[in-house]
Amino acid sequence: MTVNSKRKRSWAEPFKIKMVEPIKMTTAEERVEAMETARYNTFLLKSAEVYIDLLTDSGTSAMSDYQWAGLMLGDEAYAGSENFFRLESAVEKFYGYPYTIPTHQGRGAENILSKILIKPGDVVPGNMYFTTTRIHQELAGGAFEDVIIEEAHKPDNLHPFKGNIDLDKLADLVDRHGAERIPYISVEACVNMAGGQPFSLANLKEVRAFCDKHGILLILDATRAMENAWFIKEREPGYDDKSCAEILKEICDLTDGCTMSGKKDLLVNIGGFLCFRDIEYYRRACELVVVYEGLHTYGGLAGRDMEAMARGIEEAVEDEHLKARVGQVSYLGQKLKHSGIPIVEPLGGHAVYLDARKFLPHLKQDEFPAQALAAALYIDSGVRSMERGIVSAGRDKKTGSHRYPKLELVRLTIPRRVYTQAHMDVVAESVESCYENREGIKGLRMTYEPDNLRFFQAHFEPSAPFVLEGVGLDRSKRYSASRK
Ligand code: F0G
Repeated sequence: MTVNSKRKRSWAEPFKIKMVEPIKMTTAEERVEAMETARYNTFLLKSAEVYIDLLTDSGTSAMSDYQWAGLMLGDEAYAGSENFFRLESAVEKFYGYPYTIPTHQGRGAENILSKILIKPGDVVPGNMYFTTTRIHQELAGGAFEDVIIEEAHKPDNLHPFKGNIDLDKLADLVDRHGAERIPYISVEACVNMAGGQPFSLANLKEVRAFCDKHGILLILDATRAMENAWFIKEREPGYDDKSCAEILKEICDLTDGCTMSGKKDLLVNIGGFLCFRDIEYYRRACELVVVYEGLHTYGGLAGRDMEAMARGIEEAVEDEHLKARVGQVSYLGQKLKHSGIPIVEPLGGHAVYLDARKFLPHLKQDEFPAQALAAALYIDSGVRSMERGIVSAGRDKKTGSHRYPKLELVRLTIPRRVYTQAHMDVVAESVESCYENREGIKGLRMTYEPDNLRFFQAHFEPSAPFVLEGVGLDRSKRYSASRK
C-alpha cells in the first residue's frame, strides 16, 4: 500500500461538543436601541444583547470535561490547598519557574510585580504597551517606553515577528537613562496591541544577552506565550520539529520571571499568576500578595479555579490544540483578506484586527474611527468587537492630550473552543457589509471620559446619524441610527 502524504488535509478542532449555550439573534431595531443605551461603547452592552461575542478572548474560553471534572476536586482550605500544589508543579513543569504565586488574574500579578520592582522615576521598556501593564507601571511611579521594532506600527508590513524588540532602541534608552533606572524589560508574547504578533527566539536571546550585559531583569508577559510558541514552530528556522511545549520552555528559560493572565492561553474563566526564579523577589511578592489578593497559596482564587488552570496548562500546550486555535483565527482573517478588507498582517494568534484608518479614511483619528466601526458592526449584525486605537491609548499623563497611536484598530477577538467556522462566516459577511456601508459610518464625540483605562467605560455620541443599508439577517433594511 502507498500513502500519499502530500494530499491536502484540512484541519479540524481536536474536540467534539458535549454541551451548548444558546445565543439569540436580535432585530436591527433592538441593536440600534442597545448601542445608543451603551453610548457607542461595546463594553457597555449587555451580553444578552450580543449575537457573536468577539469582545475578548479573556476568560471566555470553553473549558473541557477534564477541567470541569477538576472543579469538583477543589480543596477550599484557606492555606496550603492541594490544588495550589498541582498548579505550582504544572507551572514548573511547563514554564520552568520554581516560584509561583497565584493571583486573581493578570493585572493582580502586574500590580505586585510593579510594586516590588519599580521605584519613582524608573523607566520600563516594553514591546508595545498593554493597557493594564502600563497603568500599573505608572501607578508605581515608573514610565513605560516602547522599544518594539518599527514594523509593528505598520499594519501591512509582513515581518513574521512583529513582536520583536529593537535592540538599538533599547541601547539608546540605556544611554539616556542609565541601566540603574531600568528595573526590568517587559516582553510580551503575541503582542496584543500590535495585532497578536509574536517575537522570535533569536530576538529574545539577543534581549537576554543585553540584559546580562547591563544587569537588568527580563520579565515575560506569558499571557499568550503558548500561541507565541506555535508561531515560532511555524515561522522560525530550526523549530518545526520541536513541540510547542519544548519551545515554551525555551522562551521561559531566557527570562527571570513572568506575569500571567490564565484567562487567555490557559482556557479558564478566571485566574493568573506571578513567577520568579529568585527566592528574594518571591519573598517580597509573598508579602504583597497577602495585602492585595490573598494568601500566597490561593491569591484570590478558589481551590477549584487553581485546579482548572493546572489542567488548562496541560491541554493548552498541546500542538493540536494550538494549531486549531490559531487556525480558526487564520480562517477568518483569510476570508476578510480575500474580500479586500484592510486588516493587520501577518495574522496574529488570538484575533483579527481591522485597520480602521484604511476602512474609514474619511474620519480623523480624534473622531474615534475604530470606536465608530465597532459600533457599526454591532448594529449591522450583533457581532461585538473592541476598539484598540486612540481611545485605548488614553491621554499622556504629562501633557494631558490624547496619545495618537499609529495603529487604529478594531479587534475581532476569538474565544478558544467557543465558536464554529459558520460563526466566522457570519462575522466575515457582517464586516463586508460594513465595508460596503463605510461612508455611512460617521465620527464620534466623547461625552464622558474616565481618567484611567477610559476605553472600558467612556461614553460617545455620533456627530451625524449613521446610515447603514442592508442591516439585519435578511439584508433588506436601511437604518439611520442616531440619538434623538
Ligand atoms: N497582559 C496581556 C497581554 C493581556 O492581554 C491582558 C488582558 C493582561 C495582561 C491583563 O490580564 O485581564 O487577566 O487582568 N487582556 C484582556 C484583553 C483584558 O481583552 O485583551 P487580566
